[in-house]
This record gives sequence, C-alpha cells and structure tokens, in this order.
Amino acid sequence: MVMGIGIDIVKVGKMQNAIEKLGKDFLKRVFDSKELKNISSGKMYYQRLAARFAAKEAIIKAISKEYPLALNEIIILNRKNGAPYCEFKKKLNVEILLSISHIEDYAVACAVAQKK
Ligand SMILES: CC(C)(COP(=O)(O)OP(=O)(O)OC[C@H]1O[C@@H](n2cnc3c(N)ncnc32)[C@H](O)[C@@H]1OP(=O)(O)O)[C@@H](O)C(=O)NCCC(=O)NCCS
Repeated sequence: MVMGIGIDIVKVGKMQNAIEKLGKDFLKRVFDSKELKNISSGKMYYQRLAARFAAKEAIIKAISKEYPLALNEIIILNRKNGAPYCEFKKKLNVEILLSISHIEDYAVACAVAQKK
C-alpha cells in the first residue's frame, strides 16, 4: 500500500558551503559512513551528497512523519547498475522507491513510500 510520495531539491552550493564550514560534524549528522564510502571518490562529490540530502528529505515527506527519523538513519546507496535505493538504520515496515538526478548546481530526488 502506498503511504505517500515526496520530492525535494537542493542547491549544490549550499551543501558545499555547509561541508566546508562544518566539516565532519555536518557529514556525520547527515550521512551514514556507508554513504560516505560509496561516494568518497569520483566526480560530482558535492552533487551526489546534495542528491542524497534531497533523497532523505523526500523520504521524510513520503513517510509523512509517521516514523520519526534522523537524516543519518536514512541510508542511500546504489545498486550494481547504478540505481539508488534506501535502507533504514531502524527496522521499519516501509519500502522506498527512489529516483535521483543532479546537474552542476542542483540535485533533486523523488521518493514513494509503501508499506511492506
Ligand atoms: C542512468 C541514467 C538515466 C542517468 O541519467 P543522467 O542524466 O546521466 O544523470 P542524472 O543526474 O539524471 O541521474 C544520476 C542518478 O541516476 C541514478 N541512476 C543511475 N543508474 C540508474 C539506473 N540504472 N536506474 C535508475 N537510476 C539510476 C543514480 O542515483 C544517479 O545518481 P548517483 O550516482 O549520485 O546515485 C543515464 O545514464 C542513462 O543510462 N540513460 C539512458 C540513455 C542513454 O544511454 N543516454 C546516453 C546516450 S544519448
């Protein structure tokens, strides 16, 4: 059963500023170590982090705050084919369908939450 949908857009420059100002504290508050490892190298570092931030916000919207979650309890990873997926630190009876896109200055994400 679909619980809800969510969408979010993030300015990449804002994400970059926060990371440059607040460093590891900010990264730890928002991201899980698995996410940081997944995108630690490679192009589009800030775009990909911004996209994950957008994904987390979209997921929070999609689950309608039914389950209170911290940003770093929502973990966005990639399948072998590159498609993003979400896992939660807590055990939730929720499955997330997720799509992400980013260009130089903006990142967006859309999520659908369904009860398992
Ligand atoms: C997968 C594809 C759709 C990504 O689109 P894009 O415009 O390059 O990039 P976007 O910024 O919109 O999307 C990137 C995100 O797509 C997601 N993605 C990657 N592969 C995916 C897949 N197989 N299924 C779903 N989502 C995927 C990822 O989340 C990625 O972001 P991330 O790496 O930070 O996690 C694209 O590379 C593709 O394969 N297009 C098919 C058509 C084609 O071959 N075009 C090129 C020749 S004209």
